[in-house]
Amino acid sequence: MSDLTVVAGPSSPELAARVAAHLDAALVQAELRVFSDGESKIRLAGPVAGRCVIVQSTHPPTDSHLLQAMMMARKCADSGAKVCAVIPYLAYARQDRAFLEGEVVSVALVAKLLEASGVASVVTVDIHSEAALAYFARIKNISSIPLLALHAAKMNLSGPIAVSPDAGGAARAEEFARLLKTDSIALKKSRDRTTGDVTVDPNIGADVSGRDAILVDDMISSGGSIVKAAEVLKNNGAGRVYTMCAHALMIGDATKKIQAAGVQEIIATNSIPGAHAKVDLGPALADAARAIL
Ligand code: R5P
Repeated sequence: MSDLTVVAGPSSPELAARVAAHLDAALVQAELRVFSDGESKIRLAGPVAGRCVIVQSTHPPTDSHLLQAMMMARKCADSGAKVCAVIPYLAYARQDRAFLEGEVVSVALVAKLLEASGVASVVTVDIHSEAALAYFARIKNISSIPLLALHAAKMNLSGPIAVSPDAGGAARAEEFARLLKTDSIALKKSRDRTTGDVTVDPNIGADVSGRDAILVDDMISSGGSIVKAAEVLKNNGAGRVYTMCAHALMIGDATKKIQAAGVQEIIATNSIPGAHAKVDLGPALADAARAIL
C-alpha cells in the first residue's frame, strides 16, 4: 500500500474509491452531518497524515460542497498532512473576470479560500476558463477530451462530426475531432448576460447532412446551450445528435429538455455522479494527484 491517503468527500464517494484503488491508498470516509439550518459538520472516520488526497466535486449544493472541501482540507492540514484537493468540477470557474461593472471575480476568492484552508495543490478537470488557472498557486487541469474521444470511438457513429456549441469551445471540439480522426465546427452562440438566454446562429457554415453530430462541451448546466445547438444541427439535416461533456450538472429538467430536442444520448465523465456519468476519470485523477504531490 502507498503512503497516500484518499479522503472521500461527501459529494464524490464513488470517484474517491476509484482514485484510492488506482493509487493503492488508504481510503478515509468524511462523515457528513447537515444541521437543520443547513450548516455542514465533517468528521474524518480515520487517520490522515503524510500525503493526503481529498476528492470532492463542487456541483450543487455548490457552496456546501465547497465549504466541506475546505473543512476536510483544514482537518488534514492540521493533522500535519500535505493536501492535494481533487475537485473535478470546480465551481465558480466561469466567474473569472468582472463581466459587468461591480461583479466579483469569484474564482479568485475560491482559490484564496482553498489555500487558506490548507490546500497545497488542486487537480481539476476541464476548467471552464484557462484564465481561472492563474489564480491558483499550484493546479493541474486535466482534459477529459481523450477519454471522451475513446468512448466515442466505440460508439459506431456514422460520419461523425464534432461540434462546439460556441466559439469558446472550438479548441476542445478540434482536439476531440483530431483524436476521432474527423473534422469539427464551432457554432455561434450568444448569451444575454442579464437574462442568461441563449441563441445560436442557424447558419453553421458547414454541410452536416446525414452525419452524426457530437456536441462537445465542458459542462451542461441548464441544458439551454445544448438544446439550441441540437435544434440548429437538426434543422441543418444532421443525422443522430449526441452530446458529450466533462461535467453534467443537469440542473432542473435539463435532461428532459435535451432529450426533447432530439439528442440521442448524453455522455459525461463521472466528475459528477449521475445517470450520465459513463466515462471514468479515476485513473487520470489519481495519476495527476500523485504527480502534483
Ligand atoms: C459556456 O460557455 C459553457 O461552455 C457551457 O456551454 C454552458 O455553461 C452550459 O450551460 P447551459 O447548459 O446552462 O447552457
